[in-house]
Amino acid sequence: MTKIILDLDTGIDDTLALTYALASPELDVIGVTGTYGNVLIETGTRNDLAILELFGHSDVPVFTGEPHASTKDSFEVLDISAFIHGKNGIGEAEIPDPKGSVQEQSAVDFLIDSVNTYGDDLVIVATGPMTNLAAAIAKDPSFAEKARIVIMGGALTVPGNVSPWAEANINQDPDAANALFRSGANVTMIGLDVTLQTLLTVKETAKWRELGTVGGDFLAEATDYYIKAYETTAPHLGGCGLHDPLAVAVAVDPSLVTCLDINMKVDCEGETRGRTIGDEEKLNDPKKSMKVAVGVDVERFLHELMERITRLAADTPARES
Ligand code: BDR
Ligand code: CA
Repeated sequence: MTKIILDLDTGIDDTLALTYALASPELDVIGVTGTYGNVLIETGTRNDLAILELFGHSDVPVFTGEPHASTKDSFEVLDISAFIHGKNGIGEAEIPDPKGSVQEQSAVDFLIDSVNTYGDDLVIVATGPMTNLAAAIAKDPSFAEKARIVIMGGALTVPGNVSPWAEANINQDPDAANALFRSGANVTMIGLDVTLQTLLTVKETAKWRELGTVGGDFLAEATDYYIKAYETTAPHLGGCGLHDPLAVAVAVDPSLVTCLDINMKVDCEGETRGRTIGDEEKLNDPKKSMKVAVGVDVERFLHELMERITRLAADTPARES
């Protein structure tokens, strides 16, 4: 079993990432670290705790991370984030308030301690802004050398989704993402290049509703909200992008994607701020620290997602009639 920490801004597709991880026998979820992004950090960690309890995993600890970008002193949810994920981050679906609360230790310290304890046996999957990871690198110079990281973020061969250049997670804190990319850390980038090829429709969410369980109802309601938002923002796709769960799926099985070995950077100045692109200064460096996914086995991933998450949702209490 591989130990995994999920760094989430929960978020509807973050919810699917978390449930995919919980449903994967190959993974031991040792913690969730919260970040801001789709929602305020307090909303995100509330969702993490509530979802963990709903799916019978209240033993997984949740840690609070940095509340805003590394170059800012506050954070406000963007209108587009609230439109796509709902004001509460989970498509206005209502699930019971969590009984548990966040840990005292900070997310950054938990990330550092875990990497020092477990080394290669641990994978960190980050599906929000890269602020917590950059803070861990700044605090512990050995973090970048030791950590194995998969991120959902960026776009190499396709345009961004918040601007022609920038993808949403990178856009929240381009400086943090640049610090991560240029740190030499072992990072696999799961960007829009592949996540926008993996789509879910109401045909699949109907299967979760048919289970007649509280977990199935919750996932169907939240994901239908997300699918509806995509009908407005990206009608040409015909479904919602499975961004964050694909990153978890790749942590389980890297053969789901084909990758380009490359050294990357993030533009931090000018109109291309937030663009993820090859680092020209390291073009001739024979050592490539990053892998960028450029191809994905869509059918196999969708099969794994439906199989795993449906099994997890089936195992929650029956809905009250
Ligand atoms: C990413 O941005 C967020 O809105 C999603 O949760 C995902 O992590 C997609 O660009
Ligand atoms: Ca996310």
